[in-house]
Amino acid sequence: MDTLQVLDKTFRISIPEATIKREVSRVAKEIANDLNGKEPLFLPVLNGSFVFAADLLREVNIPCEVSFIKLTSYQGTQSTGEIREVIGLAKDITDRHVVIVEDIIDSGLTMAHMIETLKAHNPASIKVCTLLVKPGALKVKIPIDYCCMEIPNEFIVGYGLDYDGFGRNTRDIYTVIES
Ligand code: IMP
Ligand code: MG
Repeated sequence: MDTLQVLDKTFRISIPEATIKREVSRVAKEIANDLNGKEPLFLPVLNGSFVFAADLLREVNIPCEVSFIKLTSYQGTQSTGEIREVIGLAKDITDRHVVIVEDIIDSGLTMAHMIETLKAHNPASIKVCTLLVKPGALKVKIPIDYCCMEIPNEFIVGYGLDYDGFGRNTRDIYTVIES
């Protein structure tokens, strides 16, 4: 079996690279169709979305801009539910069509806060694009415009996602094996 050890936890492969590629391409085409002519500004959220954003954006074949943002930190395998601050918004997003690019929406609290923060800067529109969503974990309603894949409420790593900072540098996505 394909397993991965990250710190004290063992993971098994759950979404292979080929599946990720296929779904990322599908979403990139949808975005390119919907936002062609609008010169969207993509705002990938560091650190988790760096791999996804790199793959996604190379397939969004329309004129666009990219500017990374960051949130204050998240640790361990449980979402704390604390509201984290958006930092690094370098670009003026006023009257821009912005696309937030996230690795995963879990409780949705982070994304809800991000949307509210960005709204205050008066963009023309805000779209949410996420690699993954855990529908069973959502605590608030989030308008998810683009989603590559839905997953069960289990902790995962790989393809940018981490466990206490480790495990981001894999091509496949892995799910924790509870022992
Ligand atoms: P939320 O506020 O509960 O939606 O948390 C979202 C953030 O928690 C994501 O951007 C991730 O950084 C992190 N996160 C949630 N679930 C996982 C997971 O299964 N693996 C790694 N990080 C996760
Ligand atoms: Mg994240």
